[in-house]
Amino acid sequence: GNKRLEEVKSLVSAHPDFPKKGVLFRNIFPVLRDVHGFKTLCDLIVEHIKSTSPDVELIVGLDSRGFLFGPIIAQLLGIGFAPVRKSGKLPGETYKVSYKLEYGEDSFEIEKSSIKQDQKILIIDDLIATGGSMKAACELVEKAGGNILQCFVVIELNCLNGRDKVNKPVHSLLTY
Ligand code: PRP
Ligand code: HPA
Repeated sequence: GNKRLEEVKSLVSAHPDFPKKGVLFRNIFPVLRDVHGFKTLCDLIVEHIKSTSPDVELIVGLDSRGFLFGPIIAQLLGIGFAPVRKSGKLPGETYKVSYKLEYGEDSFEIEKSSIKQDQKILIIDDLIATGGSMKAACELVEKAGGNILQCFVVIELNCLNGRDKVNKPVHSLLTY
């Protein structure tokens, strides 16, 4: 386990003062660029989910970097994927929630038809920082009738305590 985690972690790059001064930005894309690294990451995620939430029925991924992991992990588990999108992007009937950004507000939507009542859901994203995005996604999934088993992120930025904002189990693979 540990050697594989170290392999993935060594591929995550760090960018000081991006997108603004004082932020150390963790970038997941070099992992995807490395065919062996991305395979290792997918294996680790699938093993984690099989051991912690074996009865999960649907993966929900967050716009936009949750889309890098959600569909491939869902396929590997043999279940479906549904997106939570920034508002104004999804057709048909939707549920909507607003969430706080560092400056101002944004909102997420989910298609009403994407989740069945009491369906067992795992929410996935690349990273948790303040936890505002994950908290909003949980509210949406519950509005749509989902039963959230866990929230999974590849990267957790520990110092921001994002997991304290989310009232569901939060699991991460790499912490900084
Ligand atoms: C980033 C990241 C998470 C979120 C984490 O996405 O991919 O979704 O921020 O931040 P939080 O825990 O403070 O809410 P961003 O909103 O930048 O959108 P993007 O994926 O489209 O770049
Ligand atoms: N990396 C990538 N996305 C992010 C970060 C980060 O450090 N902080 C908030 N969103």
